[in-house]
Amino acid sequence: MAIKSCLLVLLPIALLLLAGSSPAAAQLQVGYYSKTCPNAEAIVRGEMEKIISAAPSLAGPLLRLHFHDCFVRGCDASVLLNTTDSNLSERDAKPNKSLRGFSSVERVKAKLEAACPNTVSCADVLAIMARDAVVLAKGPTWPVPLGRRDGKVSSATEAADQLPPAFADIPLLTKIFASNGLDVKDLAVLSGAHTLGTAHCPSYASRLYDFSGAHSADPSLDSEYADRLRTRCKSVGDTATLSEMDPGSYRTFDTSYYRNVAKRRGLFQSDAALLTDVNTREYVQRIATGKFDDVFFKDFGESMVKMGNVGVITGAEGEIRKKCYIVN
Ligand code: HEM
Repeated sequence: MAIKSCLLVLLPIALLLLAGSSPAAAQLQVGYYSKTCPNAEAIVRGEMEKIISAAPSLAGPLLRLHFHDCFVRGCDASVLLNTTDSNLSERDAKPNKSLRGFSSVERVKAKLEAACPNTVSCADVLAIMARDAVVLAKGPTWPVPLGRRDGKVSSATEAADQLPPAFADIPLLTKIFASNGLDVKDLAVLSGAHTLGTAHCPSYASRLYDFSGAHSADPSLDSEYADRLRTRCKSVGDTATLSEMDPGSYRTFDTSYYRNVAKRRGLFQSDAALLTDVNTREYVQRIATGKFDDVFFKDFGESMVKMGNVGVITGAEGEIRKKCYIVN
């Protein structure tokens, strides 16, 4: 009897302790601003419609900004902070030099500040803009859980160390994704974002001219496609030339990325690498058939929600920045 009552007293305490010791995942919520800024998502959508209709090629960059934010210090808008006298920020790290769309983010944030001051975080703005960029490029939609707070730290070194490089193979990609709580399926699905946008020649030139330092082309790249790429990208040092990553439909969010990869026409080594692992290859080949566009669209929304949860800060942590490029 004594043991039983002792257990009755101790069990709830043990459970409480356990709950306290788990790294309680910060909770985001769909509709988080429904009371504090009910029009937040409509304001973002209205601005995004104007931004994308004026510059359709911004859909890719705005999607990429959210990814580069989430993979360094979690989705806390650290990617948006400017370098200061005493700190080189993520924006100025090498892999981030090709990011675009910062002024569009500031424009959307200014609209939100006018409607609901000090309420909507820059990290949430990035997540909503990324979703809307996909929708406006004719891709899927998904409900975006919100309630992220903005961080106060941004480090170029961290960005350089933690973002996946274009030359990454499956073991490295898997490792980087796993360190963000994302699995091999998320890798196959989120790589599909390369259906949108363009890339600078140095991101893939070594595959054309200097593969593994051997002055030859990457054998995993379709040779006809390599010839075509060489007519645009003239040398490893050509920093000016841009190529469509999904030629012919780089402004449309569709499944042709997977058809390109399946035909050994993925632009980066990281895209080609998807054919070297049994799980990612099966995914690529399945979506490439064109019979499962709805599956990819659903998967993409789910993986984006997962990515949008990476390392978020909520509650009383961090702050709601007034301007996204500078801490309050
Ligand atoms: C799997 C690992 C990934 C690697 C190695 C990678 C690498 C790259 C590189 C090298 C570029 C071209 C940069 C340039 O030369 O201008 C690029 C562009 C892009 N990436 Fe990725 N990426 C990866 C995953 C992702 C993910 C997860 C997303 C979004 C969910 C994404 C979205 C984009 C978009 C939309 C562009 C085009 C940007 C533009 O048009 O300016 N990427 N990526």
